[in-house]
Amino acid sequence: MSRSKALLHGDGLLTAVTDVALAVQRTRSIKELIATTGHGLEALGLQVALVSLDRGVFGMRYLSAHPGVLGVLRGFGGDAGRWPLLAGTLFGTNAGPMLITDMPAALQEYAEALGGTQLTSDALTQMPKAAITSPLHVGGAQWGGLVVLHDDLRDDDVSIFRLFTLQLGTALEVCTGFERLERRTAELELVHELAVSGAQADYAALCHRALGTVARTTQSDATIFHRYNTDTDEYLMVEAFGTSGPAVGKYQRFSLPPGQPVLVAPLAVPVAKLPVDSALVAGEGFLHMAVVPLTIEGKPVGLLTLGRRRDAGFEDPEVRSAEILGVQMAALLERARLYDESGRLYADLKKSYDELGRTQQELVRHEKLAALGELAAVMAHEVRNPLGVIFNSLTTLKRLLKPTGDSEMLLNMVGEEADRLNRIVGDLLDFVRPYELVKKANAVEPIIANAVDAAAQSTLNANVRVLTEFPRELPPFPLDAHLLKQALVNLIVNAAQAMPRGGTVMVEATLEPHQGGTWLCVRVRDEGVGLTQRATEKMFQPFFTTKATGTGLGLAVVKRIVDAHMGEITARANEDGHGTTFTVRFPPTHETRAGSLTPPKPSPSVPRR
Ligand SMILES: Nc1ncnc2c1ncn2[C@@H]1O[C@H](COP(=O)(O)OP(=O)(O)O)[C@@H](O)[C@H]1O
Ligand SMILES: [Mg+2]
Repeated sequence: MSRSKALLHGDGLLTAVTDVALAVQRTRSIKELIATTGHGLEALGLQVALVSLDRGVFGMRYLSAHPGVLGVLRGFGGDAGRWPLLAGTLFGTNAGPMLITDMPAALQEYAEALGGTQLTSDALTQMPKAAITSPLHVGGAQWGGLVVLHDDLRDDDVSIFRLFTLQLGTALEVCTGFERLERRTAELELVHELAVSGAQADYAALCHRALGTVARTTQSDATIFHRYNTDTDEYLMVEAFGTSGPAVGKYQRFSLPPGQPVLVAPLAVPVAKLPVDSALVAGEGFLHMAVVPLTIEGKPVGLLTLGRRRDAGFEDPEVRSAEILGVQMAALLERARLYDESGRLYADLKKSYDELGRTQQELVRHEKLAALGELAAVMAHEVRNPLGVIFNSLTTLKRLLKPTGDSEMLLNMVGEEADRLNRIVGDLLDFVRPYELVKKANAVEPIIANAVDAAAQSTLNANVRVLTEFPRELPPFPLDAHLLKQALVNLIVNAAQAMPRGGTVMVEATLEPHQGGTWLCVRVRDEGVGLTQRATEKMFQPFFTTKATGTGLGLAVVKRIVDAHMGEITARANEDGHGTTFTVRFPPTHETRAGSLTPPKPSPSVPRR
């Protein structure tokens, strides 16, 4: 009794099968081709089995889900059992297609020949009676075979299927070519991308993408890239694609046993044959692996590992493709490493160079200052004596002549200019005098009050007010009272001078947390003209001044005093855009830094007025 759908014969079958062949010709991938073949033939009422030959072993690629056929398979131990043997019998010895008129009997016979395999009668009764088997060739080599089953297959159908398998073979060849071409294109694109990527490229992302491409072109489920470290003889994992399990964790870094420091030849084997913890690797579902050593000019640079979760070993062209791509990746990494290293070397060199420059400048400055100190001391000595005479004579002249009008004006002018000269000499001496800094616990408020008084005396502009503010009680602080006063006078005088039309100078002292301690912080804030860009850069340099009668020594002295206290000085434009605030900070320690420059010789003997 026929259980199959009625089958066309003759021209009808030929036309129908040709249509399937035409549909198959239009496919672009082997997977699609196999599905189109299976579905197309099934639609004609046939049962279909398509097997492929992989390294001498037949494997199932497509099978109609007919319970009878499945039953037969189960009877033979399933796909992984006897089926390859059966397929071998059906196609292996036959040069061309053949009709098997009583398939159940043939299978039964075959099973008995194998020795004792029992086929369930269910399987045999449900299965179509006849079959046509035809081996499938691609490019002259056997690719596999096609079995169609139906109750009503005849002798004259055989030639139709012979024709069909011929067309199928051609289509397969085209698809194989297509797939190879696609892989090659992806490979070339990757090689190109790796080759043109600059050394600064984000090579982690690039590596990951590259591994994805390698996985596609080698039909792997996972790809892992290790870099070889020559210094430690170790392989270090750079990226893993398609896997993240315990094996990836375990092989983050590894070295080979002594005597075998590097891998030389690619290894493509089933997982069980790998010289590693194969249980761990198999735990991630891999059945086949290829381990591809990467070398550049004979030297090891890395390792590319491919993993496949389906049961198909890696072929030579796939391993070769992995090698080509892997070497490109290794070269990229090497470039990136060299780039990083050269960057580091350059930074080091630049640092040493800058340091040398600074040291040299410092040396020059010290030498200049030392020479200057000597000169200033000599000059002060020479100038102060005649100055003393001028002051004395002026006082006497004024007393004797009681001048009025022009003569009074002229005598006053002489007095003012002599004063100015004296100030310059005083500033110079302040600047070059070697300090013997004595830090004692001093009350801060009186020092500031003294400084304000002294500054007020030397500042002529009556429109300038100096206010002080102490937000909270200040404890005695380790300072040199005399030098702090001198520094503050200089800052307050500068502040007053910055306000030719008058204004307020605010002097404020607080305790502030700084560098892990509580520092004394004194701010001198004015509403003046503000610092010019040039002054910001140069104001601490001796002799830098923007004033017609300035000496440019005030801030240089302040800086020296602050340095000797191991303190800090900063200047900043006020937030409201008017004026400047100078901030000096002193640490709560009794430590000092040698504040003296080379002492001038001979030491000045003339007292200041
Ligand atoms: N409070 C301030 N506001 C604006 N500019 C200032 C202030 N303090 C100092 N400067 C600038 O820094 C320069 C150097 O100051 P200083 O060393 O005291 O020398 P001098 O007062 O003799 O010019 C000044 O000429 C001035 O340009
Ligand atoms: Mg000044």
